[in-house]
Amino acid sequence: MVYCKGVGLMAAGISHRVYSIMPSPTMWIQDLVSMLKRSGRDYYSLHVGQPGIPPPREIVDRLSRILAERGGDISLYTYTSPRGVPELREAVAEDLASLGRAKPDPLGGVVITTGGIEGLFASIASVTDPGDPVGIVTPAYFHFYSILGLLGNRVVEISSYPDLFVTHDSWADLFSRVRAVIVANPDNPTGRTLDRDEARLLADLACDKRVYLIHDVAYSTLYYEASREWPENYCEEYVITVGTFSKDPGIPGWRLGFIASNEDLANAIAHAREATSYNAPVPSQILILEYLRGRYREKFLPKVIEEYRSRRDILSKAIEELLPNARFRKPGAGIFIYIDLSKYLKTSSDEWVRKIAIDSGVIAVPGTLFGSGGEKWVRFSFAWEPGERLWRAIEVIASKLRS
Ligand SMILES: Cc1ncc(COP(=O)(O)O)c(C=O)c1O
Repeated sequence: MVYCKGVGLMAAGISHRVYSIMPSPTMWIQDLVSMLKRSGRDYYSLHVGQPGIPPPREIVDRLSRILAERGGDISLYTYTSPRGVPELREAVAEDLASLGRAKPDPLGGVVITTGGIEGLFASIASVTDPGDPVGIVTPAYFHFYSILGLLGNRVVEISSYPDLFVTHDSWADLFSRVRAVIVANPDNPTGRTLDRDEARLLADLACDKRVYLIHDVAYSTLYYEASREWPENYCEEYVITVGTFSKDPGIPGWRLGFIASNEDLANAIAHAREATSYNAPVPSQILILEYLRGRYREKFLPKVIEEYRSRRDILSKAIEELLPNARFRKPGAGIFIYIDLSKYLKTSSDEWVRKIAIDSGVIAVPGTLFGSGGEKWVRFSFAWEPGERLWRAIEVIASKLRS
């Protein structure tokens, strides 16, 4: 074993590629959760990046019936096209159009993936080579770093701290230095969304500079007041949409996502993903086809949005009232609030997150896991705990920070 900076002990013979990627942040947070579970104590899950509301029962029942009826049919078990079943591609294309994106060609321009992460992976692999610079805005979703590390890309960061805002000049500077840019919209961890001017600007920069924009829309239906904007509508050639069904209807463990782009890009991405999982799980494809085509979302999503909106309001109010020196932007979309606790924390955010979990059972995610600049920042999720428990969790934090 040798010691590798930032990673710890490294087993001889394991590739540098794997050891160069950031260890999954969920690992040490999961250790904290396991420790709290073992202790039998109550704890508050403000760290969770997945919905705490199950998908509509009717679609799961529908899937069970389909599996029972078709259980003896070999076609249920075979590989699908690496692009996914055609009906689902059509449903995804229609869905994107209903959300305001220019409708992609369902057969040529949509590829169903094994979750959003595979869509990101195959997209970046398709438009960059090892060593190529790829731009991201910090704080950034931690898997961007892992994917870029594994693909051997060079990460170029621009910072949105402290206001969590990116100027037009910074965007222009970023696009002039890289081969591709990844933007999550709505963003994880900040909840920031692109406004119309920004979407237009990013599209113009992508097309003018021939830089690929990977538009990660994992939270594309979880909008409260923000407006949903699509750079794809202004630059079809250089923008790739990467989506997932992990957050809506909330099936992260069933691994289903998609990409949408022009046909040339989609061909390359379909080709790249043949080397990773080949095709997405068939039961998940059936489930989502039912969800989109059977109009289940129309009944389900408004309730989910109302619930998340109310939780977001409660969490924001609790922070404003009980932690008045904390700074944050109330998000108009997504499931996270990203908060600057520098006026309160005497230790690093990592140390504080560990301590507040162990001492008081509140689990959060430290800002340091979202790239450089996150010291003293913390991410709270409102996807898992109901409103009254979110309020209580902030009370617990506030009383601890006062003592
Ligand atoms: C911004 C963002 N993109 C992509 C993903 C990946 O989603 P999936 O679970 O479908 O791989 C996530 C998941 O948390 C996310 O937050």
